[in-house]
Amino acid sequence: MTELISEGRARIAVDGVFYNPRMRLCRDIDMIVFSELRKSGVNRHSYLDALAATGIRGIRACLEAEFTPFFNDVDRKAVEMIKQNLQLNGIEAEVFNRDAVSLMRDRSFFHIDIDPFGSPAQFVDAACYSARRFLSVTATDIAALCGSATVSGLRKYSAYAIKTPFMHEVGIRMLLGKVAREATKYDKAVQPVVSWAKEHYYRIHLRVIFSSKEAGKVYGKIGYIMQCGCGRIWWNSMYETPETLCSCGEKAVMLGPLWLGELERKDFVEKLVERSEGKLKDIFSRIYEELNIPFHYDLHNICRRLRAAPPPIEKVIRELRELGYAASRTRFSGTSFKTDAILEDIEKIIIG
Ligand SMILES: C[S@@+](CC[C@H](N)C(=O)[O-])C[C@H]1O[C@@H](n2cnc3c(N)ncnc32)[C@H](O)[C@@H]1O
Ligand SMILES: [Zn+2]
Repeated sequence: MTELISEGRARIAVDGVFYNPRMRLCRDIDMIVFSELRKSGVNRHSYLDALAATGIRGIRACLEAEFTPFFNDVDRKAVEMIKQNLQLNGIEAEVFNRDAVSLMRDRSFFHIDIDPFGSPAQFVDAACYSARRFLSVTATDIAALCGSATVSGLRKYSAYAIKTPFMHEVGIRMLLGKVAREATKYDKAVQPVVSWAKEHYYRIHLRVIFSSKEAGKVYGKIGYIMQCGCGRIWWNSMYETPETLCSCGEKAVMLGPLWLGELERKDFVEKLVERSEGKLKDIFSRIYEELNIPFHYDLHNICRRLRAAPPPIEKVIRELRELGYAASRTRFSGTSFKTDAILEDIEKIIIG
């Protein structure tokens, strides 16, 4: 007999079709996000699980957030599995066996979810064309996005990055920037609802706004981050001329184009914090507390440069606040922080 896997409220058979138990936490987070989207949404939240494999995400979205799911996979075996899993869970839904790009060109959906092997780049254009209100995207090609595979980043995301101490923030901003830029040609502006980065994947949930005026405004939130070897970091939007000369006299590296705007809607994340518990509450709380600044510092990296022993991060944040600066921890790592302080003051605090 086929072995069944339980995840959330779903029970599914896998039988050789792709199913990654390591993405369970991601799907658990999604279900809280989806339930909250559903609360503020319409009667019928049509949701395309465009690269569905076993259908686990769409099935959970139906059972746990009352979405109206549609499923698609190019692989015939996956489609058979999805149909079997729908029956197992008592769900009736349309299942397509098509290339996701051609399906999204033919039909529009209220909410589209792109969860590919590796890079979502080849699906982004059609997903932006098709999504009426929400777009969710996973990327697992972290190296291309975060600057450790620079040429892959250029090929797939038309953006330049090298490895930096804030590389996963660069990665998630490169992904958001790509989606935001692809959407504007269809007179659509995107607005991140919530996004996060884990070691092996990035996940973004976006609201889509149909308006040429809003789409034009998006470029005020897209641009370049400059990083100088002396430690200074700054940014310019597409509506400004990038300043690459640092006040130390050296030329900075220019990363981008990247999304420079907010990574979430705080009012939305506040609700996620309220409705979650345990590990998920901790994740949402950290996101909620994080300042809206497009880069972060890594304490250990600064300490290496200064040849100083790292003080506790909470102490650094407290002392920055005592000097009147804004400061917070970040979702990206336990040793990173955000602040609007000048570098000299950050260094003074760290040296002690
Ligand atoms: C990473 S898996 C999806 C995992 C699934 N969403 C989950 O949560 O377990 C990617 C799936 O995309 C399918 N796929 C790959 N290229 C496709 C395409 N061009 N159109 C439709 N499906 C495709 C593969 O057959 C595979 O089942
Ligand atoms: Zn400098």
